[in-house]
Amino acid sequence: AATAPTLEPLQQGIVTAIAQRLPYYNWTGFYMLDPHDPETLVLGPFVGAPTTHVRIPVTEGICGAAVASGETVIVDDVHSDPRYLSCSIDTKSEIVVPIYVQGKVIGEIDIDSHDSAAFTNADRDFLEEAAQIVGAYIEQHPA
Ligand code: SME
Repeated sequence: AATAPTLEPLQQGIVTAIAQRLPYYNWTGFYMLDPHDPETLVLGPFVGAPTTHVRIPVTEGICGAAVASGETVIVDDVHSDPRYLSCSIDTKSEIVVPIYVQGKVIGEIDIDSHDSAAFTNADRDFLEEAAQIVGAYIEQHPA
C-alpha cells in the first residue's frame, strides 16, 4: 500500500526549488507554529546556513511580526529594524510570508538575502502562492 504523503518532503521540495532558481534567496526556510506551544515558531525544512534560531517566540523577530500581523512582512534593511533577529552577518533584507490553514496562521516561509531591498512585489506574489499551496496541502492532510 502507498504510504501517506507527509508535509516535510513538500516543504523541502519548495525551499530547494526556490533557493536554486533565485540566487538572491540566500536562506530559505519554513517556520511552523508548535502545535503543543502555539506561541512558538519551530524551524522546519530550510536551505542555507544553519541557524541558531530553531525556536522563535511569536513575540520576537520579523518572524514573530508576520504571525502577529497575519501579513507578509518585507524588510529592506534588517539592521534598521529593531525587531530583527540575526541569523547571518551577511543578511541585509528579509521577507516573511504567513501560511494560513482554515483562516489561522499556522506557520510561515522566511527568506533572507545578502542584497539589500532584494524583495519586490513579484517575490511577495510568488511566495504567497507557495504559502497557499502549503496551506492547502495541510488542510487536505490533517495530522
Ligand atoms: N531573521 C529572523 C530570524 C530567523 S533567521 O532569518 C533564519 C527574524 O528576525 O525573525
